[in-house]
Amino acid sequence: MQKKCWTKTGRTVHRWLWPFVGLLCALLAAGCKKSGDTPAGGEGGDLIKIGEFASLTGKEATFGQMSHHGTELAIDELNARGGVLGKKLQLFTEDDQSKQGESKTIARKLISRDNVVALLGEVASGRSLEAAPVCQEAKIPQISPSSTNPKVTEIGDYIFRICFTDPQQGKVLARFAQGTLKAKRVAVLTDAGTPYSVGLATYFKDAVTAGGGTIAMEEKYTSGDKDFKAQLTAIKAANPDALFVPGYYTEAGLIARQARELGLMVPIFGGDGWESSELAAIGGDAVEGTYFSTHFSPEEKRPDVEKFVQDFQAKYGITPDAMAALGYDSAMILADAIKRAGSAEGPKVRDALAATKHFAGITGDITIDDHRDASKPLVILQVKGGKFHLVENISAD
Ligand code: PHE
Repeated sequence: MQKKCWTKTGRTVHRWLWPFVGLLCALLAAGCKKSGDTPAGGEGGDLIKIGEFASLTGKEATFGQMSHHGTELAIDELNARGGVLGKKLQLFTEDDQSKQGESKTIARKLISRDNVVALLGEVASGRSLEAAPVCQEAKIPQISPSSTNPKVTEIGDYIFRICFTDPQQGKVLARFAQGTLKAKRVAVLTDAGTPYSVGLATYFKDAVTAGGGTIAMEEKYTSGDKDFKAQLTAIKAANPDALFVPGYYTEAGLIARQARELGLMVPIFGGDGWESSELAAIGGDAVEGTYFSTHFSPEEKRPDVEKFVQDFQAKYGITPDAMAALGYDSAMILADAIKRAGSAEGPKVRDALAATKHFAGITGDITIDDHRDASKPLVILQVKGGKFHLVENISAD
């Protein structure tokens, strides 16, 4: 581009015009230099580029779609207010298809091809864990809206989450099983194929035992499995008071269905991985009355929740869930950090993110702690008529 600025013009013009041509070319060259040599996402560009990776298709598609809607709503609102530091925000979204093995490549692409200043994602802990070393190495902050496995933020000081962690979720679920469900002997059916499920099962079992309860039996499956009858038959024979399924919604729906078919009629419950509009479509009547813990309920009576729900419904025609609210909060927290940093440079944004205190999120008050995690209350929802209803708010401590 610079060559084009300099060579073509000089030959065809009269001598007296040369100084003017020289000046014009110098100006054009400066223009070329500005857009060519400085990454547009960095300090010199007119836009602040933000990367997002999500499961927009595949087995956990509703996770990515809802998280993306929330993120997009936040970015649109921020841009309508004039952007951040006088620049508009541009969102680059990549679909990892709910597959392991995609997120690393996607993170590299977003950072080196698109020059994003930060990455938002993923929902699932396993996929956040894959991208995190790439962000850490590049000194590009990553904010997971909703990955709860503790290992995610342990990858390094550029990796943040804005949700509670599974040690907290496991403890709350154990208290719920022992308190509300009055279950003394709990069976667990764990997905051995995801770090999320393995972690949550462990923290839950530890908390049940610490609370004086018993794990009647633990059985395992692998994500993608469709037949759980062998495990459920063994669980039924162990005669538990309740069944805990710390997995994602596709398998959880099938497990509930097959449990009821086998005559296992005890209460069934799960963690945030259950939350999807698809849960009732997959589980049918079998998920009626089941419970799960999560981060947010659109039924919460807080003015900012009511406004968010209205705006989300107006834009997408559906009711937001936890992933939508967390996706929204993640983009807002990033924008707030860029503003406080006065810059979109990775190390400065990292420091500002680490200093986030009492950010008023849709999902509650968010303070980033020394482990780059957030400690927040949980909600327990129950499936009734195929919809999710708020049963209780429980503090994480
Ligand atoms: N917490 C889950 C994980 O870490 C992801 C999730 C978050 C799913 C919120 C649903 C709702 O893998």
